[in-house]
Amino acid sequence: MHTPPALGSVALVGAGPGDPELLTLKALRRLEAAQVVVHDHLVGAAILDMIPVGVERIYVGKKASHHTLPQEEISALLLRLARAGKRVVRLKGGDPFVFGRGGEEMETLLAAGITVEIVPGITAALGAGAAFGFPLTHRDHAQSCVFVTGHLKDHSVNLDWPALARPQQTLVFYMGMAGLDTIVTQLQAHGLAPDTPAALIYKATLPEQRLWRSTLAELPDTARRHGVKPPALIVIGSVLRLAAMAPRLPEAPALW
Ligand SMILES: C[S@@+](CC[C@H](N)C(=O)[O-])C[C@H]1O[C@@H](n2cnc3c(N)ncnc32)[C@H](O)[C@@H]1O
Repeated sequence: MHTPPALGSVALVGAGPGDPELLTLKALRRLEAAQVVVHDHLVGAAILDMIPVGVERIYVGKKASHHTLPQEEISALLLRLARAGKRVVRLKGGDPFVFGRGGEEMETLLAAGITVEIVPGITAALGAGAAFGFPLTHRDHAQSCVFVTGHLKDHSVNLDWPALARPQQTLVFYMGMAGLDTIVTQLQAHGLAPDTPAALIYKATLPEQRLWRSTLAELPDTARRHGVKPPALIVIGSVLRLAAMAPRLPEAPALW
């Protein structure tokens, strides 16, 4: 009689913002024990190098609007691998549950009876604050911090602007470069001061990392002048003033 293979398992693992030293010990252990690693483009070479030789790697990378594999197919691939009895690591940039679609993958797998483990990672906003020396909250500057997606399915940015434009708050937009003009226009229209400190942060925690200082009103111009491309964060709020104290910041005009 034919016995079906025992079901495998999937660990949804956060690889952190880029610096391999920011990988958690648990993430490293899961990579070392994996039989297959399914990864995307935000996971850098230094982290992929930690996967033992002989472990199968499957690239399912995604860049905004250049999908290598549609999300449903990624979930279906994970399901197929787990049903074939494999110990699968689904490795994602940052944290799998922060704008990482880890929730959708988890739902598909759990619905099929597959064991899923979540291994958190350091999300890009936390990596950026640490790399450039600004806190996300501070008693004198921000009592709350909001992580926002700047990328919606139909390329529009339709957010709760009155809530986002509140004072004493740090805003971190992920995937916001394409919607930058709308973000800046809407925040100002809802009352956020044009001279609010703002920054564009590219590849935080990696050797190529850059921070461009700006103000809310000047952000689109800053982005165009420097040709800022994803992966980048848009950070808005007066906590950024503390970044000016960080020794590693390049020379920049004293905007804030
Ligand atoms: C699909 S989201 C994934 C976020 C990820 N799950 C996390 O927790 O950081 C991709 C976006 O994250 C941001 N991002 C990821 N890594 C970054 C980094 N090292 N520096 C700046 N932004 C980054 C960019 O806004 C990029 O477009």
